[in-house]
Amino acid sequence: MASTAPVLTAVQALDATKGGVPGTRALKRHGPTERLVFSAEELLERPRVPGIDRTVFYFHFRPARPADIVVTRDPDTGEIDFTPQTFGPLTDHPLTICLHTNRSASPHSTRNLGRVGAEAVVALPGPELVRQTWVCAVPMPRGICEGEAAELTLLPSRVVSVPGIAECPVNLECRVEFVRQQYSHNAVFLKVVGASVDEELLSMDRLDIIRRGPTYEVDDATNKWGGAVERLGTNHELLECPGFPVGPKAGPEAGAAAWIRDLQEAGHLSKAECDRVLAWLTALDELPASPSHEARQTLQQRLTRVFELAAWEEWDALHRHLSMQSEL
Ligand SMILES: Cc1cc2nc3c(=O)[nH]c(=O)nc-3n(C[C@H](O)[C@H](O)[C@H](O)COP(=O)(O)O)c2cc1C
Repeated sequence: MASTAPVLTAVQALDATKGGVPGTRALKRHGPTERLVFSAEELLERPRVPGIDRTVFYFHFRPARPADIVVTRDPDTGEIDFTPQTFGPLTDHPLTICLHTNRSASPHSTRNLGRVGAEAVVALPGPELVRQTWVCAVPMPRGICEGEAAELTLLPSRVVSVPGIAECPVNLECRVEFVRQQYSHNAVFLKVVGASVDEELLSMDRLDIIRRGPTYEVDDATNKWGGAVERLGTNHELLECPGFPVGPKAGPEAGAAAWIRDLQEAGHLSKAECDRVLAWLTALDELPASPSHEARQTLQQRLTRVFELAAWEEWDALHRHLSMQSEL
C-alpha cells in the first residue's frame, strides 16, 4: 500500500530542506525557474524529504516501461520459471528487445537467460492479470513454478521449446543473442523469432487496445513497512500528432531530401525553391564535419531556418527566406 503521508509540492519540499534535513542536499534552486537538480550520486540516494514518499522524485528519472512475464527454462533441471520483468524495444528489423535481470534479486531468470542461445517467451499480461503478475514476482525457491501458483496456463510455443502463457494476449518467442553484466543487472538482448496474439485484439478499436495493454511499470511506491513496491498502469490517451507537412510523407526514415520534394509536390515550394534547398543539402553533406568551417555554418543556418519555417507551416516566411539567400 502506498504511503498516506501528505504530498508536498516541489516548492514546499525545497522549503522543508532549509533547516538542513540530512539527506536532502540534492534539492537546490537552479536558474530563474524552479527546478530541482541532482548529481549522479544524489540520484543513487533517492533524496529523502520529510512527508514525501522517497520514490516520488525518482520515478521521473525512470519513466514507465512495458511489463512482461518472462518464461524461461532452468538449463540444469529443465524446469520452467516465470518472472515479471520490464523490457525495452531495441530494433524493428529484426524485432529485438532487451531485458534487465537483477543478478541478486532475480537469480532464476538471470541464470536461465544467462547464455547466448537460451530460449524464452516474453508474455505481455493485460490489466486483468495484475494479481497473477504479483504472484509470479514472489521470490519462490528454484524448482517451484510461479506460474502454477499464479494459476496461469502454459501455452505451447511454435518456434522455441519454452511455453508461453495462455492468459497473456501477446506472447513473444525469443532467443538470447547477447548478455552483458551492467552494474547490478544483466542486460539481455533477445531476438523475437515467433509470436502469437489473441485474435480478439484484431477486431478491437485501437484506443481500446492501448487502454487495455500492455501494462507498464509506471512507478514504485513505499509501502507502510518501508518496502518499495512496483505499480502497474496502462495508457489512456492517444495524442494528436502532426504528420506531413511536419516531416516527410513516408515518415522520418525517408530523409530530409524526400521531405523537401514532398513539400514541392504539395505546392508549398516551387520547383526552383525545391532545387535550391536540395542543392544546399547536397553541399552540406559533402563538406567536412568541422564546426569552424565557414561555408558549413552558412548552410547550417540557412537550412535550420528552412526546416523551422516548414515545420511551423509558415509558407510566406519560407518563400521570403529562400528568395533572400544569395548563391553559395
Ligand atoms: C511489474 C514488475 C516488474 C519487474 N521488473 C523486473 C525487472 O525488469 N528485472 C528484474 O530483475 N526484476 C524485476 N522484477 C522483480 C522480479 O520479478 C522478482 O525479483 C522475482 O522474484 C525474480 O524471480 P526469479 O529469481 O525467478 O528471476 C519485477 C517485478 C514486478 C512486479
